[in-house]
Amino acid sequence: MTPGKDFTPYAPRPATLVRKVRLSDFVTLFEFEQDNGRPLAHKPGQFIQVSVYGVGEAPFSISSRPKAGTNSFEIAVRNIGSVTSALHALPVGAKVGIRGPFGSYFPVQEFVGKDTLFVAGGLGYIPLRSLLRYQLRHRDEFGRIMLLIGTRSPSERIFVDEIEKLSQRDDIEVMETVDCVGDSCWQGNVGVITTLLPKVRLDVENTYVAMVGPPVMYRFVIGACVGDQCISPERIYVSLERKMKCGLGKCGHCQINGVSACVSGPVFRYTDIEPLKEAL
Ligand SMILES: Cc1cc2nc3c(=O)[nH]c(=O)nc-3n(C[C@H](O)[C@H](O)[C@H](O)COP(=O)(O)OP(=O)(O)OC[C@H]3O[C@@H](n4cnc5c(N)ncnc54)[C@H](O)[C@@H]3O)c2cc1C
Ligand code: FES
Repeated sequence: MTPGKDFTPYAPRPATLVRKVRLSDFVTLFEFEQDNGRPLAHKPGQFIQVSVYGVGEAPFSISSRPKAGTNSFEIAVRNIGSVTSALHALPVGAKVGIRGPFGSYFPVQEFVGKDTLFVAGGLGYIPLRSLLRYQLRHRDEFGRIMLLIGTRSPSERIFVDEIEKLSQRDDIEVMETVDCVGDSCWQGNVGVITTLLPKVRLDVENTYVAMVGPPVMYRFVIGACVGDQCISPERIYVSLERKMKCGLGKCGHCQINGVSACVSGPVFRYTDIEPLKEAL
């Protein structure tokens, strides 16, 4: 769908908060509806700029899958500073402004007919969820879907019920780990996300990787591949977050060695960012 006549990437469009779901102590899911009645028309991996009126604007990944017939979409936000705490304080029915969708996205068509290994560290499940839900919606078009999730502690896990439901399906393989258990009653895997890798047997020639987490995780995951379980970095896609303002490649806030992360990213093929000193 093409944007309407009134579309300008500079002017926030009004949207209404229609649902809030607490995902953890600090993270909340927000469902919005665009007041213009149109679908957001995003691609998995893209982000929007959300303005909380009177406070400011901040970028967030779109967490829902692209949906043609609806004007609703979801983001999930960690409460960390001024815009995010103002967002958390909004009641259902409140208005925000949105710009976008912006940026690059996971090349969904390239993944058709292939296996996908999702690697989500920390809040990385939020952007990956858009691609995952798209693939599950079009399940017949894709091969194996494997989801690895690593979180610092059990209390920081997000989308817990959703992931529990996914792990009960027989058309997706889900594995989760936490770095440390603390005083929780967690009975699952313990250890960093790389400890899950030896537990999945991959058809490496037929597998794409979609990975989102702290950049240091990317190096460790790629460094952890051994023997015949290494996937070519050409088939690994990652997302890089940088502080952003315009989202349009104009202000320079998000530059990584001269590359605008808001336009060329946030989703990059791993081999495209590996040479950039400031990227990882
Ligand atoms: C493309 C993209 C997608 C994003 N997707 C999500 C998402 O889905 N969910 C989510 O919760 N957050 C996401 N973020 C991060 C989010 O934009 C920041 O947390 C938000 O801008 C903080 O705004 P604030 O006004 O609440 O915090 P501020 O008051 O501006 O800052 C609070 C603290 O957060 C730090 N901070 C601010 N922005 C960033 C950033 N981009 N990266 C690292 N540290 C930062 C500041 O240095 C400061 O220490 C994304 C960022 C980008 C660039
Ligand atoms: S945010 Fe302005 S150039 Fe990327």
